[in-house]
Amino acid sequence: MKKWGVHFLIVVVTAAATAGLTALLVNIQQRKLEARDRFVRLVELDESVLDAAVWGRNFPREYDGWLRTSDTNRTRYGGSEAFSHLDAHPQLRTIYAGYPFGVDYREERGHMYSLADQKLSLRTQQFNQPGACLHCHAGGMAHVYRTQGQGDLWVGFTNVCRMPLTQAWDLVQHPVTCVDCHDPKTMALRISRPGFLAGIAVLAASDAPVPSAPSIERWRAAGRKGTYDPNREASRQEMRSMVCAQCHVEYYFKGAEKLVTFPWHRGLKVEDIEAYYDAMNYADWTHAISTAKVLKAQHPEYELWNQGIHARSGVACADCHMPYKRDGAMKISDHHIRSPVLNIRRACLTCHHVDEDEMRQRVEAIQTRTRQLLDRAMDTVAELIQEIGEAQARGVPEDAIERARAFQRQAQWRVDFISSENSMGFHAPQEAARILAEAIDFAQQGRLVLVRAARAARTDVRERAR
Ligand code: HEC
Ligand code: HEC
Ligand code: HEC
Ligand code: HEC
Ligand code: HEC
Repeated sequence: MKKWGVHFLIVVVTAAATAGLTALLVNIQQRKLEARDRFVRLVELDESVLDAAVWGRNFPREYDGWLRTSDTNRTRYGGSEAFSHLDAHPQLRTIYAGYPFGVDYREERGHMYSLADQKLSLRTQQFNQPGACLHCHAGGMAHVYRTQGQGDLWVGFTNVCRMPLTQAWDLVQHPVTCVDCHDPKTMALRISRPGFLAGIAVLAASDAPVPSAPSIERWRAAGRKGTYDPNREASRQEMRSMVCAQCHVEYYFKGAEKLVTFPWHRGLKVEDIEAYYDAMNYADWTHAISTAKVLKAQHPEYELWNQGIHARSGVACADCHMPYKRDGAMKISDHHIRSPVLNIRRACLTCHHVDEDEMRQRVEAIQTRTRQLLDRAMDTVAELIQEIGEAQARGVPEDAIERARAFQRQAQWRVDFISSENSMGFHAPQEAARILAEAIDFAQQGRLVLVRAARAARTDVRERAR
């Protein structure tokens, strides 16, 4: 009996173990098949396939994430609901007076809307804009440029930039898409946008530090010869930010050609870019109230991130905005690019071992401090602008007003740099605070010039009366 019992036990255990092992093997087999699945190519891809849905047949998981960029969730300071910044912060109407941004400026949404939102904006409905606007808003622009340039990317780039935007819209139909970041043959990350290729080459050729680039020596060597090409020389980790920097950067349209240009000739910091614009006497517009020649900053995410601890530590845009996620045996990059605050567990907690609430509070503490400084800076700049307007009406001497206008240009550029950057200071908290402190100081210096000029004028009158 005892012996039988032992045999029975052995049989049962063996059967159970076999069943378990078989199940495991089947599971592994399934996972392996899944993993191989990724490389099963149902359709051939090349540079002319711009429609993400076609790519999605080979890569359904990434395509699914991409589709989800149509979600519209809001966070405390960001997210994807297209509310009006002008209604939320009316001082911006004063700051942008006389410029299309004073008419319509909204919170950005996900990549699925990039082309549609440009068409909806009153900045394109009520104002003539150049084809240059397409560089970052339509998918597959490299292909469009090559087609428009009879095979030459740069010729096509020039041709499209200077045509009217309404005409250029006829050349495109997709928003930001797979081919913008991926080589269709190898799926490797690659840069497709000429604005970035030219911008990063001038940066490499400068002496400016680039905190996010550990390979800066290589950059310099190639940069001085004028041959720096990220598609050849950048590391994979650098590429995980550079693909985003094709669009999430400050830019301007150069000359009558309206060529999209990244102003990185002297470096990436707010004063490097300002020095570049100052040296060529550049202004985006003449302010409607003060007639100051002023600048507009737009989404300098790559520039500000470069000044923060994450860039310096080698943490790329994709680490936070496209974190890995498991899907069966597969580790894929989350192509639902969005605010990491909506996804803290995967976006941050892989590196930071605190709980989700604590992490959210750390982000919001940084953002609330930035917001409060930004509000005070905006108020002060708006007041300076109104006071210049009044001083002009009262006949304050022109040289004093001109000096106040110069302070407005400096202060406004700094306010805008942080306000237009989309992380509310998170990408580089201390740098954001430094820039806003300078903005407040420049605006107050401008006001002081006017007060002193007015006082001097009063003293003059009294002296003449004596
Ligand atoms: C360490 C993580 C991290 C890195 C690295 C990072 N970001 Fe962010 N980013 C954030 C956080 C946090 C926010 C704030 C989101 C919010 O307020 O909802 C943000 C906000 C943004 C936003 C606005 C999102 C929204 O919902 O309004 C954009 C656009 C953006 N980042 C782009 C970039 C780009 C481009 C890079 C690389 C140059 C980058 N980020 C690097 C964490 C990161
Ligand atoms: C260098 C790339 C680049 C170029 C060139 C560019 N944009 Fe954008 N645009 C972006 C990015 C990135 C965002 C999302 C971040 C943001 O809104 O700050 C954006 C957001 C927008 C939005 C939505 C938010 C808003 O501002 O109301 C509109 C509309 C828009 N752009 C219109 C235009 C127009 C018009 C032009 C041409 C004058 C243009 N863009 C040129 C990169 C670019
Ligand atoms: C070809 C240009 C382009 C590239 C490349 C690009 N973006 Fe964008 N991005 C945009 C534009 C334009 C918008 C605004 C779309 C709108 O408001 O309709 C945007 C919006 C965003 C938003 C806001 C999403 C939301 O829900 O509010 C985030 C976050 C973002 N991009 C991050 C990134 C990251 C990270 C990368 C690199 C992995 C990247 N982008 C690459 C053009 C680009
Ligand atoms: C804004 C840039 C951008 C766009 C647009 C984009 N990707 Fe990616 N993709 C990335 C990044 C960054 C990675 C991570 C690559 C790495 O680390 O080497 C990635 C990785 C991948 C991978 C490798 C597996 C993985 O998930 O990590 C595949 C496959 C892929 N993408 C497919 C697609 C498809 C399909 C589309 C269009 C539906 C698309 N991508 C659109 C930036 C982008
Ligand atoms: C790939 C790893 C990685 C990811 C992902 C990451 N971080 Fe970090 N984070 C770091 C490193 C490294 C530092 C620098 C810490 C140090 O060296 O002591 C840092 C520093 C910080 C700091 C301190 C900042 C300062 O100025 O001192 C905060 C806050 C922070 N991270 C928040 C976040 C949030 C929020 C996210 C997600 C949106 C995130 N991090 C994602 C690696 C990461």
